[in-house]
Amino acid sequence: MKVTILPGDGIGPEVCRQSAHVLAEVAAAFDIPLETEEHLVGGAAINATGSPFPPETEAACVSSNAVLLGAVGSPEFDHLPPQERPEIGLLKLRQALGGFANLRPAAAVPALIDSSPLRREIFEGTDMLIVRELLGGLYFGQPRGFADNDTEAFNTMRYSVAEVERVAHVAFQAARRRRKKLTSVDKANVLETSRLWRQTVTKVAGEYPDVALDHLFVDACAMHLVTDPTRFDVILTENLFGDILSDEAAVLTGSLGMLPSATIGGAVDLYEPIHGSAPEIAGKNVANPLGAIASAAMLFRYTAKNEEAAVAIEDAINWVLNKGHRTADIAEEGRMSISSTTEMGAMVAARAIEFANVKNAYHAV
Ligand code: IPM
Ligand code: MN
Repeated sequence: MKVTILPGDGIGPEVCRQSAHVLAEVAAAFDIPLETEEHLVGGAAINATGSPFPPETEAACVSSNAVLLGAVGSPEFDHLPPQERPEIGLLKLRQALGGFANLRPAAAVPALIDSSPLRREIFEGTDMLIVRELLGGLYFGQPRGFADNDTEAFNTMRYSVAEVERVAHVAFQAARRRRKKLTSVDKANVLETSRLWRQTVTKVAGEYPDVALDHLFVDACAMHLVTDPTRFDVILTENLFGDILSDEAAVLTGSLGMLPSATIGGAVDLYEPIHGSAPEIAGKNVANPLGAIASAAMLFRYTAKNEEAAVAIEDAINWVLNKGHRTADIAEEGRMSISSTTEMGAMVAARAIEFANVKNAYHAV
């Protein structure tokens, strides 16, 4: 398995060092041959090469089985227009890899239930998967730009039936492996793209009679996420709605730092925590590495197709949390001991290796 590591900006390199370490150790424990190469993306790449997605990075990524990314974005480039910012590196990367289905699981972690901004009785039992369309919509629609001497600006929201169908299939298949409920989220009372979205998803649903489909407008979905999050199983939605709703869902679990993501369906799979580069805490060894590490677990699940390796990492994360270890973002007020990024990463890595070896020993018997 060839994996390109893209640490990126801000806390990206710190959390990515932890996820890459866990990836290497768990691969070794399961005898999965792994080759990794590190490359620049985002602001770090602009500073070194002038481009947020340099050709060397692209070449390495497209010849890999998967890419493991930290985070992209830096306030240093805040004055630049969207098309010149570090984020464009991430968008070009996503396009180059071709993955259109971004899976963002958000579930209540029992050990962190009191870190949720929601009351325990509302949040307990929450377990959802957001499937975000990642290559269409406002992020990529043409035409886009500034006009009339920069006194106007415009973006285009555009979806084809084929684009909606392919991501809908991923979501229905995921629902099949879960609680068989799919909520498609749109704004079909206002937008043509959403009408097309709803019609198409309804048509695809015909192939999945065992999955219950309902539709919600995005504003209502945002509300239900905080009033009744346990009603959701799989949420399927377009690019920008999914960006917004997944931050909302993530923070319900206690911290944005907890959540991983996988982008599948293209030539090369992409794994990244859903959080950003958090420049205000960068370089301080305080960032939560668990979203990044859980992304490595997803890499084993979807790219390596090794469920045991994925579970070893996920169990290790839960074990460390159950033991009471916390990074600053998930620590309750007044807590005495807080783990650094490197301490948290090392504890999860050690546990994951132990769980992996136990599984291997079991197979050997
Ligand atoms: C995310 C991020 C990105 C996005 C940014 C950094 C371009 O917010 O992965 O959710 O909007 O997709
Ligand atoms: Mn986002």
